Amino acid sequence: MAQSKEAEAEPRLFAFARIASAVLTHFLGITLTGFVAVLARPGSSLFSWHPFFMTLAFSFFMTEAILLFSPHGSTMKKFSHKVKGRVHWMLQCACVTCAALGLAAIFYNKHLRGKPHFTSWHGLLGVITVCTVAVQSLAAVPLIYHSLAKGWSLAKLKRYHAASGLVTYLLGSGSLLLGLTSVWFTSSVSDAIWYLAALCPVLSALIIMNQVTSAYVARKRLQS
Ligand code: HEM
Repeated sequence: MAQSKEAEAEPRLFAFARIASAVLTHFLGITLTGFVAVLARPGSSLFSWHPFFMTLAFSFFMTEAILLFSPHGSTMKKFSHKVKGRVHWMLQCACVTCAALGLAAIFYNKHLRGKPHFTSWHGLLGVITVCTVAVQSLAAVPLIYHSLAKGWSLAKLKRYHAASGLVTYLLGSGSLLLGLTSVWFTSSVSDAIWYLAALCPVLSALIIMNQVTSAYVARKRLQS
């Protein structure tokens, strides 16, 4: 009797943990974006646009674009998969636009100061991230116009899109984390705030990784 109660309680606990982690991811993404915006004061200098646009791109738009498909924490749970797909690509377009603007801001800022480009680990991973998200978005076009990818089933395209999207998200989280180690950020915040800020991309990456891989495993189980 006690055992069956335990078995009943377990899935509820799991469901609660999944909902809580999805809600936490929304919160972390929005909080980090807001915090960096307040700190950078976009428009106060050319540089200020860089951290602002980059956190907006990866911590907000890309996170929300993926969370949209979360079975536990989607803000569009009641909508069809088709509608979610449309909003997903709109959010991804916003992500790529912000990433391009953020890259242009830091590139031009460095150019004006005569500084060399892509010399730090952050700069190097950052430029790889922006190129990857641009390629990833272009490669997603056949998901809308399937005739562009002859010989590829829609299921296969979706699988590759999800896997490469996850890699892109992890690259974005890595770039954000390295950005937080920059002198500009570390000299603007206390140690405790730094650790809290660093937790945002780390935790979000882990939760998103769990969401994407769980969806893959669930689909595999359905097929077998
Ligand atoms: C995913 C997000 C981000 C990407 C893709 C990214 C990308 C880049 C790139 C490509 C550069 C080098 C530009 C050049 O050398 O011409 C750079 C520089 C810089 N970024 Fe970011 N960035 C991101 C987020 C951030 C954040 C959140 C901050 C601050 C909190 C930041 C602070 C800086 C600083 C201070 C520099 C100049 C020093 C350096 O080159 O390392 N970045 N970023």
